[in-house]
Amino acid sequence: MSAKFAALRVTDPAVFGRVAVLMGGTSAEREVSLDSGRGVLEALRSRGVDAFAVDGIPALIEQILAGRKAGAGGVDRVFNILHGNKGGGEDGVLQGVLEALGVPYTGSDVLGSALAMDKIRTKQVWIGSGLPTPRFKRIAKGDDVHAAAREIGLPIIIKPSCEGSSVGVSRVLADADIDQAVALAARYPGEMLMEQMIVGDELTVAVLIDGDGYTALPSIRIVPKGEWYDYHAKYIAEDTQYLCPGLDGAAEDEIRRLAMEAFVAAGCKGWGRVDFMRDRDGKFYLIEVNTAPGMTSHSLVPKAARQIGIEYDELCWRVLEATVIAGGGAA
Ligand SMILES: Nc1ncnc2c1ncn2[C@@H]1O[C@H](COP(=O)(O)OP(=O)(O)O)[C@@H](O)[C@H]1O
Ligand SMILES: [Mg+2]
Repeated sequence: MSAKFAALRVTDPAVFGRVAVLMGGTSAEREVSLDSGRGVLEALRSRGVDAFAVDGIPALIEQILAGRKAGAGGVDRVFNILHGNKGGGEDGVLQGVLEALGVPYTGSDVLGSALAMDKIRTKQVWIGSGLPTPRFKRIAKGDDVHAAAREIGLPIIIKPSCEGSSVGVSRVLADADIDQAVALAARYPGEMLMEQMIVGDELTVAVLIDGDGYTALPSIRIVPKGEWYDYHAKYIAEDTQYLCPGLDGAAEDEIRRLAMEAFVAAGCKGWGRVDFMRDRDGKFYLIEVNTAPGMTSHSLVPKAARQIGIEYDELCWRVLEATVIAGGGAA
């Protein structure tokens, strides 16, 4: 099965003007972002785009304003490859600033970015849209977490609602381990959630703008060597296996359809990556959506794009192109 993408709408790199590739920043995911950013910068430049690196949001704002005062050398659009929350670039704060300044940017707008950063509220939207996601309970300090676990039924996952990279996430198999898992998740700001643990396969599906609509790229099945896809398996281990496409036949069609529906329901734009679990009976569950996914040479979205013949450079071009297509990106 292969997706056929619409022809490129922009062929002249001059149309993009001066493009700030926004990377780095101050979040815990700084190093990954710098790595992604270097890749994007090189790809855009190799295609003739007047792209340059900017490290972090304050530097970007300065550069936009300085360019306006000088009447030249400013920023015509932003390729946002910051990862993380709390003003880290992926949570709607940056998007709001750029809206206020009238500078177009890649990816989701204020609403989609802020919603996707909050796992609890993303799940509420999915449930409201009739989309499948593991049973869960919002938990706060002082709650009877043991009663909550009984209601959901062990095994469970306990995690902060607004973090990434698997930090603060615990798998809980026995009642005796609940308190420790809650204490770990509580170290991070914001709310926590307790979720039914889905035992089975982990999959992810990238969604990319395609003409006037969106197309889901082939799924990737993640097979970590250890028990689950923790921080170590994501960034350190060399032995995590990535199978693309992750499924075949009707199951592959279904996961792609669900990814598109989940992306649209969450108000996301441009591009993103939807994470799933699939239980032993083949039922899919939505876990989260990432609005500025990794773009390092070994990241998942470039892998899925390559599978259908979209090379890294073209992927970057298409993500950027969304900023000049009405309704495709924010403006
Ligand atoms: N409900 C669940 N059932 C099974 N595994 C889960 C569940 N939720 C999360 N996980 C595991 O924990 C990892 C991190 O959780 P996730 O919700 O994706 O947070 P993060 O934003 O940190 O990536 C996932 O990649 C998956 O391996
Ligand atoms: Mg995740």
